[in-house]
Amino acid sequence: MITITAATGRLGRLVIAELLERGVPAGEIVAAVRSPQKAADLAERGVQVRRADYDQPETLEPAFAGTDKLLLIPSAVYGQRFPQMKNAVQAAVAARVPLVAYASFVNAATSTLRLADEHRQAEACIRESGLPFVFLRNGAYIELYCGELGDLAPVLEAGVMIGSGGNGKISGVTRPDLAAAAAVVLTGDGPANKAYDLGGEAFSLADVAAEFAAQSGKPLVYQDLPVEEYAKALAGWGVPQPFADLLADTSFAITRGDWYTDSADLQQLIGRPATPLANVVTAALKAL
Ligand SMILES: NC(=O)c1ccc[n+]([C@@H]2O[C@H](COP(=O)([O-])OP(=O)(O)OC[C@H]3O[C@@H](n4cnc5c(N)ncnc54)[C@H](OP(=O)(O)O)[C@@H]3O)[C@@H](O)[C@H]2O)c1
Repeated sequence: MITITAATGRLGRLVIAELLERGVPAGEIVAAVRSPQKAADLAERGVQVRRADYDQPETLEPAFAGTDKLLLIPSAVYGQRFPQMKNAVQAAVAARVPLVAYASFVNAATSTLRLADEHRQAEACIRESGLPFVFLRNGAYIELYCGELGDLAPVLEAGVMIGSGGNGKISGVTRPDLAAAAAVVLTGDGPANKAYDLGGEAFSLADVAAEFAAQSGKPLVYQDLPVEEYAKALAGWGVPQPFADLLADTSFAITRGDWYTDSADLQQLIGRPATPLANVVTAALKAL
């Protein structure tokens, strides 16, 4: 039995689709979700849907019962992710789960990003639990740079994309590629107690702007701002100040190399090159 938490999220759904595509019987997959009503379509396909709310620890051990391989996908609730993962790891120990895969963060061991702290803590908690583990250290979703973090149309209209990433490089990767890598680990018999750094083709924020300009035929330039100014600009667009500061830190971290990896783990796991930035830009422009 393979159990996926946060399975109603974008990544979780893609992992389940990959498992089904690889021939895992639907009844052998557990979608462990906070809101079972959101997983009705998965239940219709024969996937077992169980309630698993990280904030309600009593739901977790029953959800993990009988699991051979567990993929823990953290929630997106900054500041809560570590306590939530601690609950999940305790439940995995109680349910005697033989393998825990954790959807972590690229360069988790060394990253200076504030966002990485909770992933580092979660990894340490899993190691200390004694459970066999695989860390899937996911690189930045390319989709985030192609309109997911804000409306793309006004940016293209203005012809200026802002950020604080300087000339730094991001080894961006699509969710479908990360889901494919997770499915390989969950269906294979690769080694335990291993960390994979999962990144694709590296690009700068200027490369993103240039790709949009080339494909749309409209000029778009990247303007680099000091991190405080970028945070101010985000707050000016209505982003709450603490989140604006966090996002600006996330962008500035590109200059420190936190989003870059030269690891070929992703390509080796999925057996093909990673999806390039250009494909995501094409899809984003089509969706406008
Ligand atoms: N690598 C990157 O660039 C990157 C970027 C952003 C986020 N992330 C991380 O990767 C994770 C997966 O990404 P995604 O795109 O799939 O995110 P997503 O679509 O926002 O999905 C987040 C999932 O977390 C679930 N969740 C929230 N609170 C929960 C709780 N208390 N107990 C159990 N589940 C809970 C949500 O359940 P509901 O469906 O019930 O709301 C949802 O299914 C994110 O949550 C975040 O930690 C990575």
